[in-house]
Amino acid sequence: MIAGLRRLEYRGYDSAGVAVQTEGAAGQWLLSTDKRAGKLVNLEKSLAETPLPAGTTGIGHTRWATHGGPTDANAHPHLDDHRKVAVVHNGIIENFARLRADLADRGHTLRSETDTEVVAHLLAETYDGDLAEAMRAVCRQLDGAFTLVAVHADAPGTVVGARRNSPLVVGVGDGENFLASDVAAFIAHTREAIELGQDQVVELRPEGVTVTNFDGTPAEVREYHVDWDASAAEKGGYDYFMLKEIAEQPKAVADTLLGRIGTDGRLTLDELRIPDQVLREVDKVVIVACGTAFHAGMIAKYAIEHWTRVPCEVEVASEFRYRDPIMDDRTLVIAISQSGETMDTLMALRHAREQGAKVLAICNTNGSTIPRESDAVLYTHAGPEVAVASTKAFLTQLVACYLVALYLGQVRGTKWGDEISSVIRELGDAPRQVEQVLGTMEPVRELARSLADARSVLFLGRHVGYPVALEGALKLKELAYMHAEGFAAGELKHGPIALIEEGLPVVVVVPSPRGRSILHDKIVSNIQEIRARGARTIVIAEEGDEAVVPYADHLIRIPVTPTLLQPLVSSVPLQVFACELATAKGHEVDQPRNLAKSVTVE
Ligand code: F6R
Repeated sequence: MIAGLRRLEYRGYDSAGVAVQTEGAAGQWLLSTDKRAGKLVNLEKSLAETPLPAGTTGIGHTRWATHGGPTDANAHPHLDDHRKVAVVHNGIIENFARLRADLADRGHTLRSETDTEVVAHLLAETYDGDLAEAMRAVCRQLDGAFTLVAVHADAPGTVVGARRNSPLVVGVGDGENFLASDVAAFIAHTREAIELGQDQVVELRPEGVTVTNFDGTPAEVREYHVDWDASAAEKGGYDYFMLKEIAEQPKAVADTLLGRIGTDGRLTLDELRIPDQVLREVDKVVIVACGTAFHAGMIAKYAIEHWTRVPCEVEVASEFRYRDPIMDDRTLVIAISQSGETMDTLMALRHAREQGAKVLAICNTNGSTIPRESDAVLYTHAGPEVAVASTKAFLTQLVACYLVALYLGQVRGTKWGDEISSVIRELGDAPRQVEQVLGTMEPVRELARSLADARSVLFLGRHVGYPVALEGALKLKELAYMHAEGFAAGELKHGPIALIEEGLPVVVVVPSPRGRSILHDKIVSNIQEIRARGARTIVIAEEGDEAVVPYADHLIRIPVTPTLLQPLVSSVPLQVFACELATAKGHEVDQPRNLAKSVTVE
């Protein structure tokens, strides 16, 4: 269990705990538990000092605090008054305050500040020899989002799980079975998995798995084979997952393109279950996503509008459904999510479907909720992304967005011609170009180390370079915990230019001088403006772009590529920059403070 938790620690890491069914001296079954605030290593140390008795059935958890701070008492598992039931939980039980008050009225003593603990008490009260039945009855009383996993001392060899809106997958082994939020937890034991649906309860025994709906009816489940193995979720000689994942980007991009560009240069996206006729009639595209995925969406807007002439809006998913957005059955909503579990994005897509829109998910996680609830899915093939800060998933999201934009252009016949064919060719060359950028990163690392004491870094870009600037700033904030902001370079003069002072590092992402050279000219002027005010300019520019040379204190070269595809190469130095700067500051780059990889709360 500890090995499984270690693989999941990236999802939340402020406390950890386990509960194991063990046999007492008199032959009766007990629950033995240990839980500790802080990282998993604290629990491991404690277990090494005071090992639990042996057992073959148990549950474990790493926590990202929602209700109640990260203390030993608030760590999961939570137990009832008689230590008969142990429960772990992801998500938020929204009606927990009322349930808690009712339990206290009925004489229960609640020992933590969490919403989770109520479930242990409710299960203990409801249990009448069938833990799955008790779980179904309790779930029917709960509001909110939850994955719950429980064991009962009187039900040896049985683990029961339930899910609503939060992830839970079953690993099917030989004489052993597993439950986890992510297949990574059990991939060392089995690659056969079962995807659980909404409002389902699963009962796990060594010899079998039974899945029912909350009302007790048998549930239909989908079994699938995981197409990567344990080594993909290991560091493989790198100091950090983030370094490994940055290095894996050429392959991730190549895998995401694989089989999707035909020998005739046309795209085949057979997995898009939305008929071409429906795509032809789409009159608006709306993209919803969060964080880094949102930045991929911002870039997609440029590509979609340019290549298809269909209006495209992009919005952070957490804002979307609260402003009464206008959609109908001719709206195509694209939900972008690495994890496929981000609650904000899930809620946005549900809202979109309620309005009659078709939803296409761009997702990296097979079997996750967002693709399951969408009309169609285009999977990115980045493989497991473990570091909290997204890198290879971002690049593959960009690739998927380009493919969708080009495919829309293809089926609609808009602007289909030399430009699109040449872009498709160039897209095929992206893995090599990313590889080339990765080979030239030593000066970027050196620069990052020299800036470890900087108070603030600004990032500027125009056109698709603007979302890249936002992404560069986000990476630096989340990894180096320093003030970093991205701006559209043209906006600077409307206020933020007042921030420029002597020595302030400003990263500028420069568009290609070819084609849309007006953009290039404008940004060269912007660089001069900030340099005149004392900024230390760090310029990311295409090879052969000599116009920027006189104004660049530091010059980072990227390969020549069509403007719309430039983010595939220009974002890589920014990832390396943030990772190295954070390392120089002594931060844990894979698990930055306060964050979790999969944000399953709103
Ligand atoms: C930043 C980062 C986050 C995620 C965001 C959405 O490096 O990783 O901003 O991009 O939380 O997550 P997914 O893509 O899983 O929906």
